[in-house]
Amino acid sequence: NVAATKPALRLKLCEPRGFCAGVDRAIQIVVLALKKYGAPVYVRHEIVHNKYVVDGLRDMGAVFVKELHEVPDDGQPVVFSAHGVPKSVPARAEARDMFYLDATCPLVSKVHKQGLRHVKLGRHVLLIGHAGHPEVVGTLGQLPEGTVTLIETEEDVSAFEPADPSALGFITQTTLSVDDTAGVVKALQAKFPEMQAPSSESICYATTNRQDAVKVAAPETDLFVVVGAPNSSNSKRLVEVAKRFGARDAMLVENEREIPWESLKTGATIALSAGASAPDILIDAIIAKARENFDVDLEIVQTAEENELFPVMRSLRDVPLTEAD
Ligand code: F3S
Repeated sequence: NVAATKPALRLKLCEPRGFCAGVDRAIQIVVLALKKYGAPVYVRHEIVHNKYVVDGLRDMGAVFVKELHEVPDDGQPVVFSAHGVPKSVPARAEARDMFYLDATCPLVSKVHKQGLRHVKLGRHVLLIGHAGHPEVVGTLGQLPEGTVTLIETEEDVSAFEPADPSALGFITQTTLSVDDTAGVVKALQAKFPEMQAPSSESICYATTNRQDAVKVAAPETDLFVVVGAPNSSNSKRLVEVAKRFGARDAMLVENEREIPWESLKTGATIALSAGASAPDILIDAIIAKARENFDVDLEIVQTAEENELFPVMRSLRDVPLTEAD
């Protein structure tokens, strides 16, 4: 019996994990645009933060650019990423008469609307998020200049002195740590009791669900592995949550080769999750690798069921999908 000679490994697999409805939609938009309009399809920024996905789309004919000025006037479509864009981007595209497809996640667009509503009601907006992340750049650029301040930490709350403390409203990035954000919001509410919340939660369902599953799986885990890109906000938060909720060690990896398999002793427990932009094929490869080296006892840790599906824009709905898509 070969299996009996392998060391034992307990593997807790988080559910939900990986692709969210917004990422799925953004990828579909690029794939369908390639089918309908042919290559090249330009994509401004990484469509989602995952090298495997980006490389796959590049192989199909997508051309990734940083800014619009890199896109030639050849009439081919340009897709804006799931993270959202500042208002100036579609404005510039329209000025150049470009054909663009906006793959902004509907839940990011919802946060844009929540911010605009605060402004309409005469409030100064506090955006809780991480400086430089494309979603934050996009959301800041959706609001008129001078109407929004970025808050990253509780220290930022102490330092912030608004002109009118009675006219404030907050929104957040969709992919933050639920617990850290609650701390910042609490600090803001303590300092500005009149501050208004958005009409509904800005942190999205996918972020919340993935963090919840990690919280349940983390205790007594020797190594918590999160599959995700180093620039993926929601993936980095999962690593933090795993550590905070009792994992002895936690790490972000892009593929199975980055996992220190040889350091796992027999009887060890590892847990596995993936950020919203990581495809399940990467998880499958990790499980296969684990099975090669260990006698794996697989346990699913499920904390929610997800049925969200965001349809693509009307103009792409008539493109037939094949099995492989
Ligand atoms: Fe959208 Fe949340 Fe995914 S905002 S892109 S559903 S992580």
